[in-house]
Amino acid sequence: MERIKVEESVEYLVNLIDIEPEIALILGSGLGELAEEIKESTVISYSEIPNFPVSTVKGHAGQLVSGELKGKRVIAMQGRFHYYEGYDIEKVTFPVRVMKFLGADKLIITNSAGGVNRNYNVGDLMIINDHINFMGTNPLIGPNEEEFGPRFLDMSEPYSSNLITAAENAAKEIGINVRKGVYLATTGPNYETPAEVRCMARLGADAVGMSTVPEVIVANHMNCDVLGISCITNMAAGILSESLDHKEVIETTNRVKDDFIDLITKILELI
Ligand code: HPA
Repeated sequence: MERIKVEESVEYLVNLIDIEPEIALILGSGLGELAEEIKESTVISYSEIPNFPVSTVKGHAGQLVSGELKGKRVIAMQGRFHYYEGYDIEKVTFPVRVMKFLGADKLIITNSAGGVNRNYNVGDLMIINDHINFMGTNPLIGPNEEEFGPRFLDMSEPYSSNLITAAENAAKEIGINVRKGVYLATTGPNYETPAEVRCMARLGADAVGMSTVPEVIVANHMNCDVLGISCITNMAAGILSESLDHKEVIETTNRVKDDFIDLITKILELI
């Protein structure tokens, strides 16, 4: 059932996009600007793509941008879907299936996250080397489409070690420090309580956020190599004395944006 929907979207898109993308990009809030650097781009609004969900969050453009970036054929989601917006988990991950069917076998996914590791600082960039799914749901629940991937998916290397190495090399080349750590996903939309943050730290999380994990599970299901990078926009609740505010998240995103974009651009050059 879902396969037919994916095929309908793909069919619509292949007629509009003249390149076969090799890399899919999911750009978190603030990083949408990167999509503006894509050359010879084709821009397609989510609302015109059959079966595609439509973005509700302010500041998320809600369009697919495909073209060339640093010599690579890319397709970028400018604006993504969060489970807390009320979409079914299948809808949240639907675009990943579509981008893979269009040809992308690598996925670079970015997000903003709260720092759980007390050694981290606001503004750090963190390469995700593993994750903990605390969303209490899973996009693979339901009948399995064998054409998509296996029923019981191996998740021994959810984030590609080759891409992690490339990201570390890229950071070195442009002279920025990056962290490497475990991303824990909650549904949100509330930020965590201090007790939850202490619990997450004990469980091995370095950062916490409200996205990414569903898309990464689906990308793995489709045998796509994944690179995930978080911007630590704030320290998670209870670590510093101040309360959390979405404004801080936006401010940090804007402050770090140039470095973040430089990093992704350099990674594209190297992979
Ligand atoms: N918690 C969860 N998600 C987030 C945070 C946070 O502290 N900051 C940015 N996204």
